[in-house]
Amino acid sequence: MKTHTVFFSPTQTGAIVAKAIQENLNAECGESFDLTTTAVEKAFGEDDVVIIAIPVYSGRLPSVAVERFQSIQGNGTKAVAIAMYGNAKLDDALLELTDLCTEKGFEVIAAATFIGEHSFTMKQFPIAVGRPDDADRDKAAEFAALIQKKLDAGGPFTLPELPGSRPYAKEPMNPPGVVATGVNDNCTKCGLCETFCPTGAITMTNDGPQMDASKCIWCCACVKVCTSHAMEITSTKVQEIAQRLHKHFQKRQEPQWFLA
Ligand SMILES: Cc1cc2nc3c(=O)[nH]c(=O)nc-3n(C[C@H](O)[C@H](O)[C@H](O)COP(=O)(O)O)c2cc1C
Repeated sequence: MKTHTVFFSPTQTGAIVAKAIQENLNAECGESFDLTTTAVEKAFGEDDVVIIAIPVYSGRLPSVAVERFQSIQGNGTKAVAIAMYGNAKLDDALLELTDLCTEKGFEVIAAATFIGEHSFTMKQFPIAVGRPDDADRDKAAEFAALIQKKLDAGGPFTLPELPGSRPYAKEPMNPPGVVATGVNDNCTKCGLCETFCPTGAITMTNDGPQMDASKCIWCCACVKVCTSHAMEITSTKVQEIAQRLHKHFQKRQEPQWFLA
């Protein structure tokens, strides 16, 4: 048995949790398949265990992540499905993720929600800052131990009922047609924002990064990777959402898991 991770993780929180779970399983660690900036073709086998993490965007999976996942194929491969969310709402996203895994040939043996720092967090409106934190890492280890026990005991694997309902209540998250971020005078034109933008919405020019509103998915990867703090959330719409989330979703949510 070999373990692998597959993730779409613009601000890296899902990647961190997937790897933390992988490292705590009692098996050889295989590869990481990062779908954040590009699709990756991979077919897994029956002996693989794959930890899959995708973030919750407006209660659903981001459309671009679902599209990229189409090039991943399970063949009776065991999967652990992780929906990462920003301490606000999960809605139907975990159910959607397990459905997606099943459609793509995986047998989901465990599903979980973990909390990551909200992409829209701002200095004045912090939301789940620093998560996953040490306590979340401990939870990831605890979850991994339970998965290991299940794997050792063998199938059949039938998941309990998950939160959410079908048909999924909301529309999937597509580019809203408005750019979330803008650049200030600190910009050194290093190009990190262009490299890490999942959708190619940023082009570095002599005048600095140019943003394409038709491609921006509001993921804020450009804010998190910018080492000179030049990239900021400038959209008033996103700022208003951040303020609302900061006000209404302060109570710390904890990871939750569902084992077959
Ligand atoms: C466009 C957008 C919509 C989001 N919608 C939700 C949501 O509905 N509920 C929630 O709790 N968090 C929401 N988040 C926050 C992310 O799910 C959270 O920050 C997650 O940890 C990001 O995962 P990543 O670091 O792997 O990219 C949203 C983030 C973005 C960018």
